[in-house]
Amino acid sequence: MAKVSLAVVGCGGIAGAHYDGWKEIHGKEPELVDIAAVCDAIRPAAERYADRVAEFQGRRPAVYDDVAAMLRAGQVQAADICTPHYLHHRVALACIEAGVAVQIEKPSGLTVKATKRVVEAAAARDVIAATAENIRREPSKRTAWWLLNESGLMGRPRAFHVQGVQYRGPVDPTQAPRWHWRAERTLSGGGWVLDSGAHFMDTIRYLYGDVHSVYARVQQLRPHPMVKDGLRAFDEQEDYFSATINFESGVVGVWSRASTLPGHNWSECDHYAECGAIVDRSGDVFHGPHGKAEVSIPGRETETLEALYPRFVATLGPDRRQRLFPHDFTNGFTLECYDFAQAIATGRPVEVSCEQGLQAKAIAFAIYESAATGQAVRVDDVLSGKVEVYQRWLNEKWGI
Ligand SMILES: NC(=O)c1ccc[n+]([C@@H]2O[C@H](COP(=O)([O-])OP(=O)(O)OC[C@H]3O[C@@H](n4cnc5c(N)ncnc54)[C@H](O)[C@@H]3O)[C@@H](O)[C@H]2O)c1
Repeated sequence: MAKVSLAVVGCGGIAGAHYDGWKEIHGKEPELVDIAAVCDAIRPAAERYADRVAEFQGRRPAVYDDVAAMLRAGQVQAADICTPHYLHHRVALACIEAGVAVQIEKPSGLTVKATKRVVEAAAARDVIAATAENIRREPSKRTAWWLLNESGLMGRPRAFHVQGVQYRGPVDPTQAPRWHWRAERTLSGGGWVLDSGAHFMDTIRYLYGDVHSVYARVQQLRPHPMVKDGLRAFDEQEDYFSATINFESGVVGVWSRASTLPGHNWSECDHYAECGAIVDRSGDVFHGPHGKAEVSIPGRETETLEALYPRFVATLGPDRRQRLFPHDFTNGFTLECYDFAQAIATGRPVEVSCEQGLQAKAIAFAIYESAATGQAVRVDDVLSGKVEVYQRWLNEKWGI
């Protein structure tokens, strides 16, 4: 089997976690992937990444600061796209047009329409388009899925309450943080609800299936000053959201977070089924349930997800175990990258396609659309484009 020749595009923060994944894969299957190119608009970032790849791979990737030039060189068959949100669809469409398979960091496109373009282009060109989704692949999420959907230990899923208030006081304007693309909605598409929220949306779809509708409030309760090019700027991300999420299955979820409500910090990240609950005290409303979460079933000893994980793994046959935890990998980034590379090498589908990513991010956009319209919003109407109030200006700005 020829090595998958791959480019990493965007060598910033999260590309570092992908690096760890590619390195771990190389340690177990050095013949699977060749990182042949790296690309970042900031050339020194790409140069540094190439140096680090050379350390484990032995061969230094070609370095580019322009995606079009990288594609013209024709060296790669796959691209691992780790750029800011407003570039996801543009970089992905250029790759797909060149016949290059893509793995796109969540939320796999700026808007629903942007991601639909990617999904359609990939289908037309018959190349793989994956969403880089690491969270559902972690042992705690796999164990929670087993408990709620297969083990029979908890009965049918009923509801979740995943909520937190973590107060952060106003910053001294002289200490205001530096502006970043996440702070501007035209570049990020949204704040917490879409950014880390894309992970949560994927996790709840994974655990509970499709969402029918949402009713939500999303607000900024206080301005958040920043500094951009020496001048005052403001962070446009929300500091408060609250959503009721109604699943096709009848499961109901309440999801909220606030950082501007003083006086009482609290969090509750609990998932309830007929016979018991998964109680996560991590306070993390985006990436749970985590391994320390307790599985509380009346009449049974309380155990953590971590403790139950080996029991879940023991239920897996060799094929499923290899699919979920190849080489006993447990790092979500390693697992997503391995899935992508294997799919290209063998022609099998990826677990989290761009289409799956689209279904998940549509829930996040339904939350923004509900807040914008003051109405309960059906996720199908967001996917079809029937409801497009919040996103319209983003699509217009970028000509999507
Ligand atoms: N899976 C996770 O847990 C997780 C965590 C953080 C971020 N992310 C996602 O990863 C993506 C990137 O986020 P980040 O935090 O790494 O951002 P970042 O700003 O740290 O990195 C983005 C990189 O892209 C580069 N870039 C910008 N324009 C480019 C272009 N035209 N061509 C090539 N490179 C270009 C930037 O120079 C920068 O190095 C986002 O989609 C984000 O949501 C995922």
